[in-house]
Order: sequence, then structure tokens, then C-alpha cells
Amino acid sequence: MDAIELLTTRQSDSNLSFPGPTDAQLEVIKKAALKVPDHGGLAPWKFIVVQGEGRDKLGEIYHQAAVSENQDERTISRAKELTQRAPMIIIAISPYQEHPKVPRIEQIESAACSVFAMQQAAFAQHLSGVWRTGYFAQSPKVKSLLGLNEQDEIVGYLYLGTPTVACTKPVRHKAETFFSDL
Ligand SMILES: Cc1cc2nc3c(=O)[nH]c(=O)nc-3n(C[C@H](O)[C@H](O)[C@H](O)COP(=O)(O)O)c2cc1C
Repeated sequence: MDAIELLTTRQSDSNLSFPGPTDAQLEVIKKAALKVPDHGGLAPWKFIVVQGEGRDKLGEIYHQAAVSENQDERTISRAKELTQRAPMIIIAISPYQEHPKVPRIEQIESAACSVFAMQQAAFAQHLSGVWRTGYFAQSPKVKSLLGLNEQDEIVGYLYLGTPTVACTKPVRHKAETFFSDL
């Protein structure tokens, strides 16, 4: 797949099955994550790769957090299942560093670029994935159980795997709606 095709056809997919990324494919995904714009060269990223038994561990963390933070019954009962929706999940974190010229938002933006770059690297290797957030990205208890600081931001959970159905989504947005000339 060439770069233009990748950039103009990338899509998300939440129906993900085994196999997940191979070691070689994961190496490419990691390289892509670290090749993103980064104001001040702070490298404001941290990634946790979750696969195999790690998915059960993450499910336990979700469950523990949901119970201790008094989430509703549905959130609690689904907590352990959520991490079984893909063979691999990469947790992308922006570990905030105080800096006179690089505000928090720019550090988060850089980590967000990493999530997108990893999704593209997966897509280009005929894998698929979806970027998820929600309560488990915001939960202070999840952060602490993952060994993160309160200031750290979980920018996304990138679910990765093999697409179960070949499906190309239609183009949703027209350029003229979003672009104008000055
Ligand atoms: C920061 C961020 C958080 C997201 N969180 C979720 C989520 O929790 N659950 C979900 O189904 N989609 C979530 N999405 C949307 C999907 O990742 C995806 O972009 C969307 O389904 C559109 O599909 P497409 O990428 O094929 O256009 C999120 C997207 C972004 C950028």
C-alpha cells in the first residue's frame, strides 16, 4: 500500500480477531509511534502493550476500578469483557512534563499523533484497529493500578487485530465543507 492510499483509505474496525500483530509487525507499529511531531523533543509518550494474559490483567484492573469508583452495574459487569475484544491493545499515555514552552495540550497532541501513526502502521500491514477511550481512560483508579501518575493522560486504547470482514467504509466528508480559502 502506498502512502497516499494509506492516508486516504485508513479506517477503523471494531470487529477484530486473532491473530494480532506479529513481533515483526509490532516493531513497525512501535517505530511509527515514535516518529511523530514533538515540540521541544520532550518525547511525551509511554506505551503499554497488552496481549495474552495481559488482557485478563487489564480486565481485572478495569473491574477493580469500576467497583471502587461506584460505576453503574453495566460498566462493572462488562469490565472484564472489554479487554477481550481484540488480540492486542496498546495503551498510549502522555506523561505530562512541566515545560515553559510546551503546554500540556501539546504533549497530549503529540501522543495522539502516536496513536494515529500506530493505527496507520497496522492498517498498512493489513491489520485493523480502533482507538477507544471512555471511562477507563479517565479513571484515576485505572491510572494508579497501571502505575501512572494522576497528571498522566491515557490518550487512548488502540485495539488491534485482524479484520473479520472485508468492508470499505464510504467517504463521509466532503472537502468543501471543511476547507475554505482566505
Ligand atoms: C480520541 C478518540 C477517542 C475515541 N473513543 C472511542 C471510543 O471510546 N469508542 C468508539 O467506539 N470509538 C471511539 N473513537 C472513534 C473511533 O476510533 C473511530 O475513529 C470512529 O469509529 C470512526 O471510524 P473511522 O476511523 O473509520 O472513520 C474515538 C476516536 C478518537 C479520536
